[in-house]
Amino acid sequence: MSNRPIILGIVGDSAAGKTTLTRGIAQVVGPENVTVICTDDYHRYDRTQRKALGVTALHPDANYLDVMQQHLTLLRTGQPILKPIYSHHTGTFEPPEYVKPNRFVIVEGLLGYSTRGARDCYDVRVYLAPPESLRTQWKVKRDTMKRSYSEEDVLAALRQREPDSEAFIRPQRKWADVVVTFYPPDNEETNSSNLNVRLVLRPTIPHPDFTEILDQNDRYPLSAVRLGLDRDMGKPVDVLEIDSHATLEQVNSLEMMLCNEFPHLKDFCSVGNQELGKLTGTTGEILQSYPLAITQLLIAYHMIKATKMVQ
Ligand code: G6P
Repeated sequence: MSNRPIILGIVGDSAAGKTTLTRGIAQVVGPENVTVICTDDYHRYDRTQRKALGVTALHPDANYLDVMQQHLTLLRTGQPILKPIYSHHTGTFEPPEYVKPNRFVIVEGLLGYSTRGARDCYDVRVYLAPPESLRTQWKVKRDTMKRSYSEEDVLAALRQREPDSEAFIRPQRKWADVVVTFYPPDNEETNSSNLNVRLVLRPTIPHPDFTEILDQNDRYPLSAVRLGLDRDMGKPVDVLEIDSHATLEQVNSLEMMLCNEFPHLKDFCSVGNQELGKLTGTTGEILQSYPLAITQLLIAYHMIKATKMVQ
């Protein structure tokens, strides 16, 4: 079918950065072109019911994954859905909303790749895998500031959810085309703007031509931008690493590699880079980093490439 919506998945554990990255990508391709779906809306039980049953929101049985899959299938063919709404504020459900897909649909959530049928709906699959210590820090910050929990509540919830994270969330990493890991540099205090990024590029989709970086790496092995080969979940992958102290020149040259194929992607990547990678995080902080900027651009590249492939 021509011109159907392009579906991007952003999956990862609670507070892995899904909403922030989703917002950044929407900024690159134009928010007016994007419909965002959060799969938390497919929780089967409200907060009180979950507590009474002793189940966590991370368990597949605590979600209507069948309905989620039906909805993804409809969105992929350009059809509207009547989407449930889970309120993080009250922990209960609100009346459903009518959602019509735009040109791009970003589906973010905990269990997006857990069934075969759902996995088949995406054009591009991203998995967010920050180190657990950083995720804990983000979760405490978000849930105390935005969801009115105490720090002890959040730490207890993390402990309670760990078995389900291990059993159901983390294994989904293997289905991703791109695994994104923001991580703090060694021996440095973490703040949102000094994170490095490690991008695992699986050969399940064709990635941009980064071979130029390999030549540079031969000359400057300690460069802030590195490309290498590795294994991830047992499979060979390319790994692109960008340190937070990468120079503007290095970032511009990465942008060129991404934009060469799709000149109109260039419109988005304001070379000079004041706005790209500048984002307001979930808790209101301003983030600005080159690793974030290139990550957003790489994912936007894949979305635009997918558009070309369905035309
Ligand atoms: C985690 C997830 C949320 C999910 C929530 C449900 O925090 O990140 O996305 O909806 O669990 O739990 P709650 O705190 O709303 O009872």
